[in-house]
Amino acid sequence: MRSKIAGVGYYVPETVVKNADLELLMDTSDAWIQERTGIQERRYGKAHAETTTTMGARAAEIAIQRAGITKEEVDFIIFATLSPDYFFPGCGVLLQRELKITSLEAPALDIRNQCSGFIYGLSIADQFIKSGQYKNILLVGAEMHSMGLDFSSRGRNVTVIFGDGAGAVVVQPTESEGILNTVLHSDGTYAEELAFINPGCHGGYHLGKEAFGYTDQNYGGIFLTEKMWNEQMIFPTMNGPLVFKTAVVKFQEVILEALNKAGLQAEDIDLLIPHQANLRISQFIQQKLNLRNDQVWNNIQKYGNTTAATIPIALGEAWEAGKIKEGDLICMAAFGSGFTWGSVLLRW
Ligand code: ACO
Repeated sequence: MRSKIAGVGYYVPETVVKNADLELLMDTSDAWIQERTGIQERRYGKAHAETTTTMGARAAEIAIQRAGITKEEVDFIIFATLSPDYFFPGCGVLLQRELKITSLEAPALDIRNQCSGFIYGLSIADQFIKSGQYKNILLVGAEMHSMGLDFSSRGRNVTVIFGDGAGAVVVQPTESEGILNTVLHSDGTYAEELAFINPGCHGGYHLGKEAFGYTDQNYGGIFLTEKMWNEQMIFPTMNGPLVFKTAVVKFQEVILEALNKAGLQAEDIDLLIPHQANLRISQFIQQKLNLRNDQVWNNIQKYGNTTAATIPIALGEAWEAGKIKEGDLICMAAFGSGFTWGSVLLRW
């Protein structure tokens, strides 16, 4: 038993935020952003009207319809995001409620893994399909970054690259080739080099023994402290150059690892969908793998980096554009916070 992507859908919010709009908020420029990242604009969801979950649901509805199933047939949900609506519960159950598919009481699994979230999710879906446990897995990657970015000049290296959006696929069993292999990696050595650290339980405000009556002062606290708030330590931070340098190496390695496992070469790839973190990273990989422009799909110019949503949005766009035909060899690869990285090789 193998698995295949039976339907793909995506949703991007209406509001277009151009580089010039960000120039009004922080010390940046359209020229800098385009030159360093390739990004021209990104989308932002409507605050308090849209969330990671609602955007994910819109993408999921399209994927479900294209897979030719009813939403009640979804027997497992996997949701990947780094910008969940709540700390807990995760977006998986919220999506289930939003889609009104609670009747089956299908399990919902939330995964993190940031930019590699979709690749990790697809690998998990692949295993569950191969084991025969589920038949219609809904995998969603969605992000509402705009609600958690630093719009002052201090956050400019991170803020300009991120956008909001959602993508989804339905994964089903197939007797044809489908997913050939998935490769996953991580290295926690660099966890804080690209991270959203506060608020969090590692450094919250310690309430101490007065509040709890414990003799051990280590008990009790809250996630957010006055210091975190006053010093605005509540945004994602990134060591951009380190991430960039590591990404270009690991992307290439993980794509070649998947190809080697399948006994294939880079030239066999019909379409490479690299995670859209920076157009310069994608171009570097394309050059290293000696791929033509028509073998690589990039859309970062329009959407920025939508983290877990990036690959399914790009896959959906490429499919709609007729760039993916039956029998094509598709390679998807991602690298991001953690560090985590991975690839999926499939025959469409
Ligand atoms: N506008 C203007 N100037 C800026 C901006 C900005 N938006 N951001 C940074 N700068 C300045 C810096 O302050 C610095 O100035 P200085 O030389 O006076 O100190 C200068 O530009 C160069 O800064 P770098 O950080 O070295 O810039 P770099 O060329 O590396 O580009 C970028 C930054 C675009 C973030 C790049 O490092 C990058 O793309 N990194 C990888 C991102 C990535 O792959 N992320 C993984 C996925 S995300 C995830 O997993 C959640």
